[in-house]
Amino acid sequence: MGEHVIPLADLRYAASVPQVPATAPPPSGLLVDRLGRPLRDLRISVTDRCNFRCTYCMPKDVFDARYQFLPHGSLLSFEEITRVARLFVAHGVHKLRLTGGEPLLRKHVEDLVRMLAALRTGDGAPLDITLTTNGSLLARKAQALKDAGLRRVTVSLDSLDDAVFRRMNDVDFPVAEVLRGIETALAVGLAPVKINMVVKRGTNDHEIVPLARHVREHFGPGVVLRFIEYMDVGASNGWRMDEVLPSARVLEAVDRVFPLRPLQPNADGETAERWAYADGGGEIGVISSVTRAFCRDCNRARLSTEGKLFLCLFANRGHDLRALLRGSRDGGACSDEEIAAAIGLIWRERDDRYSELRAPQAAAEPAADAADAAGTRRVEMHYIGG
Ligand code: GTP
Ligand code: 5AD
Ligand code: SF4
Ligand code: SF4
Repeated sequence: MGEHVIPLADLRYAASVPQVPATAPPPSGLLVDRLGRPLRDLRISVTDRCNFRCTYCMPKDVFDARYQFLPHGSLLSFEEITRVARLFVAHGVHKLRLTGGEPLLRKHVEDLVRMLAALRTGDGAPLDITLTTNGSLLARKAQALKDAGLRRVTVSLDSLDDAVFRRMNDVDFPVAEVLRGIETALAVGLAPVKINMVVKRGTNDHEIVPLARHVREHFGPGVVLRFIEYMDVGASNGWRMDEVLPSARVLEAVDRVFPLRPLQPNADGETAERWAYADGGGEIGVISSVTRAFCRDCNRARLSTEGKLFLCLFANRGHDLRALLRGSRDGGACSDEEIAAAIGLIWRERDDRYSELRAPQAAAEPAADAADAAGTRRVEMHYIGG
C-alpha cells in the first residue's frame, strides 16, 4: 500500500444540519448578516463534473479516474433547487447564477432555468439569471437556454492561442469551439456576454492584450472581458504567489495599448472593478480576489451540488439544507417556513469569511493579506465552477 491520502472530496461532506428556530418572522427580503451585508446573490452549483481539467481548478492528477464524483442521488433535483432558490429570493436574493463544475453537463439544465425564471422578487420583478460555463457546449445549448429564460452568460476563456488554450484546459479542447459558443450566445441575445480570463503569470499573461484586442475588434461592446487573479482553490492546484499577476499590472498592459478610464460599479458587492476604453470601444473588468479582497460587501451565498449552503468561497464547512429538504434529520422533512427560518438564522449569524474556517489562523485580520490567507486554504473548486 502507498501512503495514506486524505481525499479532498471528503471536505464537501463537512456540513452540519442547520438549526430550525421554533419561531421566526417570515422572510422580509431585508436580511443582513453580522456585518450588515444583505443576501442578494445565490450561486447554485448543478454538477461537480467538468469536461475540462484546467490546471488551476481541477488538475488531472487529482480529478482522475479514481476521483469519486457525487452519485446521482446526492444531487439536488431541479424541484429541490427551485424550492430552495424561492426561499432565498424571499430573503432578498435577486441574482441566481448556475455554476458547476460545468453546468451545461447537467442533463436538461434548461428545464431548471425555466423553473427558476418563473420566480419573482418581492416586488414582482424577474430575477437576473445567469450561468458560468467553459463554453464547450454553448453553441449547442444557447438557444434552448435563451428560450428557457436565461438572461446572460459568462464564458471562461483563458487564451486565444489554441496551443495555450489546449494546454490550460488540459483535455486538448480547441479554442475555436468556445469562440463559436460565444458567437452563438450573442446571436440568440444572451447579453451581455462576459468572458472570464484567469491570468497565470508565465502561462497566459502574454495573451492579455491579444484577447482584449480580439474582443474589441471581433465582438464589440456587447462582450465584457474580465481578467481574474489566479487564486488558490485548495492544496490541489499547486498555487504560488509568484504566478499571480496583480490586476494593477493587467490594467497597465491594456492601458498602454488601449487607454482606459475607471467606471462606477453596477451594483454593491460586485466582484469586478470596471474600466471603459477611452475611445468608447466597450468595457473590461478586473477581479482582484488575491490583491484586493472584496469581502467587505460580499452578498453571495453558495448552494453546492448536494445541497450544502456555504457562506464563503473559502468556507470548508457548509450547512446541510438537503437534510432539511429530505427530512434526513430528527423531525422529518421541513416546511418552507422552517427552511426559510433556518436560512435566516444562518445568514444573520454570518461573520467575516474566517469565521467559517475552524483553522488556527481564523483570528487573522480579514483581507489583511488575502493571498497569504488563501494560501492556507483547502476548498472545493466546484463551488467556483464554469
Ligand atoms: P457578474 O459580474 O454578475 O457576472 O458575476 P460574478 O463576477 O460574480 O461571477 P463569475 O462566476 O463570473 O465569477 C468571476 C470570478 O470572480 C470567479 O472566477 C472568482 O474568481 C471570482 N469570484 C466569484 N465569486 C466570488 C466570491 O464570492 N469570492 C471571491 N473571492 N471570488 C469570487
Ligand atoms: N482562480 C481564479 N479563478 C478561477 N476560476 C476557476 N478556478 C480559478 C482559480 N483558481 C474561474 C473560472 C470561471 C470562474 C467562475 O472561476 O475560470 O470563469
Ligand atoms: Fe465573499 Fe468569501 Fe469571496 Fe470574501 S472570499 S468575497 S467573503 S465569498
Ligand atoms: Fe475549468 Fe471551469 Fe471546469 Fe474548473 S469548472 S476545470 S475552471 S472549465
